[in-house]
Amino acid sequence: MTLETESTVQSPAAQAESAAGSAPASVANASGLNAGASRLTEIIVVTSGKGGVGKTTTSASLACGLAKRGKKVAVIDFDIGLRNLDLVMGCERRVVYDFVNVIHGDCTLKQALIKDKRLDTLYILAASQTRDKDALNVEGVRRVLDELIADGFDYIICDSPAGIEKGAHLAMYYADRAIVVVNPEVSSVRDSDRVLGLLSSKTYRAEKGDTKVKEHLLLTRYSPRRVATGEMMSVEDVKEILGVDVIGVIPESADVLSASNAGTPVILHSQSDVAQAYEDTVRRLLGEDLPLRFLQEPKRGFLARMFGG
Ligand SMILES: Nc1ncnc2c1ncn2[C@@H]1O[C@H](COP(=O)(O)OP(=O)(O)O)[C@@H](O)[C@H]1O
Ligand SMILES: [Mg+2]
Repeated sequence: MTLETESTVQSPAAQAESAAGSAPASVANASGLNAGASRLTEIIVVTSGKGGVGKTTTSASLACGLAKRGKKVAVIDFDIGLRNLDLVMGCERRVVYDFVNVIHGDCTLKQALIKDKRLDTLYILAASQTRDKDALNVEGVRRVLDELIADGFDYIICDSPAGIEKGAHLAMYYADRAIVVVNPEVSSVRDSDRVLGLLSSKTYRAEKGDTKVKEHLLLTRYSPRRVATGEMMSVEDVKEILGVDVIGVIPESADVLSASNAGTPVILHSQSDVAQAYEDTVRRLLGEDLPLRFLQEPKRGFLARMFGG
């Protein structure tokens, strides 16, 4: 699918199109941002209604999981002002230029992309610490995505800020696929519903009207014990309320905090249930059909039951 170059509709897409006149015209991605590329780039937004649900943790782990399988991956922090992704990825000391610098032309994209030290095909674009929430714009975002597509990236993961404001809108705008991160509790589920509404109305794909953004739910901080006591909603409940398929369930675990303190995405802590749950999610993203795991409380050993440990 190619973009019409002379659109009369003044959607952000049309504005971006005229602004992106100098962007490479000979490349393509699944959403049809460009046409003619030798391989397809998939743009995945990791988004949510509520903040603090696990988007950055998820973005870092999915990016690593895809790169571990040889995919060329860029992960972009859209959460301007906060800059969490570089900490979780453990590259905060190597940030010289950021996403806003690239958009403002202070540096090239190549100068700003940080190559991961563990995985050869993984790159990070850090968020700016500016307080100016208008530092990102749709034309600039589009130019960066176009350049990554032209560079042959297989996946671009957009780590969104929470909510329904401009930053979140920009992060989802060009997405081919969306992972809506949700905690199994009423307020998070309710806010996810609003985000799903935006995905089906306020994205480039929705405006073009031909294909939808592929939507998935990712349940994080899932605690089987709290589901059993009724404090948390079950996977089935969340799925039924939101009417979207579940691509993974990530258990609640202290491993997430210790991994982020160490600057290692938790998926690389292979002994952890959380790492295995993220690995499963990556495999499902790549098309495998796997049952959900970690939905029950782990069985306690004989000694633990005897002595109450
Ligand atoms: N599966 C999990 N188990 C326990 N804590 C988690 C889990 N996922 C995320 N967290 C914690 O929740 C907080 C918010 O996570 P983060 O990924 O920064 O969310 P967001 O990007 O949505 O704001 C962090 O302190 C993180 O360590
Ligand atoms: Mg975040």
